[in-house]
Amino acid sequence: MESSYQDRIPNNVSLGSNRTLQRALEHWQPEFLNWWHGLGPSDFNASDVYLRTAISVDTKGWATFGYVRMPEYRWGIFLAEPEADRRVGFGDNVGQPVWQQVPGEHRSTLRRLIVTQGDTEPASVEQQRLLGHTAPSLYDLRNLFQVNVEEGRHLWAMVYLLHAYFGRDGREEAEELLERHSGDADKPRILSTFNEPISDWLSFYMFTYFTDRDGKFQLKSLAESSFDPLSRTCKFMLTEEAHHMFVGDTGIGRVIKRTAEVMKELSSEEPETLRKAGVIDLPTIQKYLNFWFSSSLDLFGGDSSSNAASYFANGLKGRPDEIKYPDHVEADSLYTLDLPDGKGGVRREQIPMRNAINEVVREAYVRDCEKGLARWNRHLEEAGYPGGMTLPSTRFRRTVGSWADIPTNPAGEPIAQEEFAARQAEWLPTPDDRAFVHSLMGGVFDPGKMASWIAPPERGINAQPLNFEYVRFH
Ligand SMILES: [Fe+2]
Ligand SMILES: [Fe+2]
Repeated sequence: MESSYQDRIPNNVSLGSNRTLQRALEHWQPEFLNWWHGLGPSDFNASDVYLRTAISVDTKGWATFGYVRMPEYRWGIFLAEPEADRRVGFGDNVGQPVWQQVPGEHRSTLRRLIVTQGDTEPASVEQQRLLGHTAPSLYDLRNLFQVNVEEGRHLWAMVYLLHAYFGRDGREEAEELLERHSGDADKPRILSTFNEPISDWLSFYMFTYFTDRDGKFQLKSLAESSFDPLSRTCKFMLTEEAHHMFVGDTGIGRVIKRTAEVMKELSSEEPETLRKAGVIDLPTIQKYLNFWFSSSLDLFGGDSSSNAASYFANGLKGRPDEIKYPDHVEADSLYTLDLPDGKGGVRREQIPMRNAINEVVREAYVRDCEKGLARWNRHLEEAGYPGGMTLPSTRFRRTVGSWADIPTNPAGEPIAQEEFAARQAEWLPTPDDRAFVHSLMGGVFDPGKMASWIAPPERGINAQPLNFEYVRFH
């Protein structure tokens, strides 16, 4: 029993030597599989998918490729290797040894942080469950499923922490992670972005570019945590997240590249002409981008936050790449925020740096988002259409923080509510735009073939050719 369990759950946390933990996870595993069958990818569970599986954390083992049926994926539990003599990197206790157990006074806060992160992982699988049917190619279908099984593994990683370090309340939280469901009227997922269904592939690429990137920054902030098992768990998850953002980055890039090709062929920028030619016009792509960028910005929380300040002071959640900041305590430093003045303008206010941590992380995120924009716009420049895509202001269409519900244009200038209502259709996807994007979606399942609205990728997965049979149906 023990050895077969060890085989099923590859791990580097000595599961076999901890009977209580092993029993708890054995109990949770069938519930997880039940959830996967009910709310995971619909209809492709009998197919063989060319997936990578992590079987260890070293460079050889973390990406082992082969055909797997998704329900048989080996959802392992991996923590990055421990760092010898690791010390608290920020806040009031900087320089003290990190914690191998949860300090009593931080127990409920740490549990909440882990549950909130953990909740997003299965939520995204639920949001994407029907997408397989309309995949633009076998290559994309495989990438979708890779993302899905790894989000499942990230759920396992968080459930491991809950079971191993939080006793009975941890076990209860682990069960509830399978009981809340994306979009459920009674028991929705915790964060609202994760309750929006993702029913077309343009949204899927936007989600993996913008929303998984929020995930990257949350994981980087938690990787700085003084609670060492959480830090090590998040560090290893980041290696897998990189591929999810790659799927989004190259996905949006391929959509734009294909549109640019057809613009050049027809020498037209006219949305109607391009739509008739079976590609997505640039204004529609920009509107999707505006929607997903603004919705992902909200995930960082309020720009002035006493919670963020206490997470920082107590060493629970830091800034990504804390080592790069000159001051790790920020006891008296200040940060300047631009806030709405309540009269249709902007005013400046200085707040304690510790209260502005969410905003600092959000800024780092925005800079990271800009890199993709530059790549995508190169496709347009090459086709002779400079200008291209832009990121809207961080004040645009916010529902969290000081700019929540303050109408602005995409440049971030406050405007009247009437103007926002009148011009919304220029800035955000309309029902008509969504209907058009949906009309393009139809599964393309012949090896090497692509849907009309997307360019092929530059290379295949794991050096396989583009016409490789990434998914085998039965
Ligand atoms: Fe994840
Ligand atoms: Fe992800």
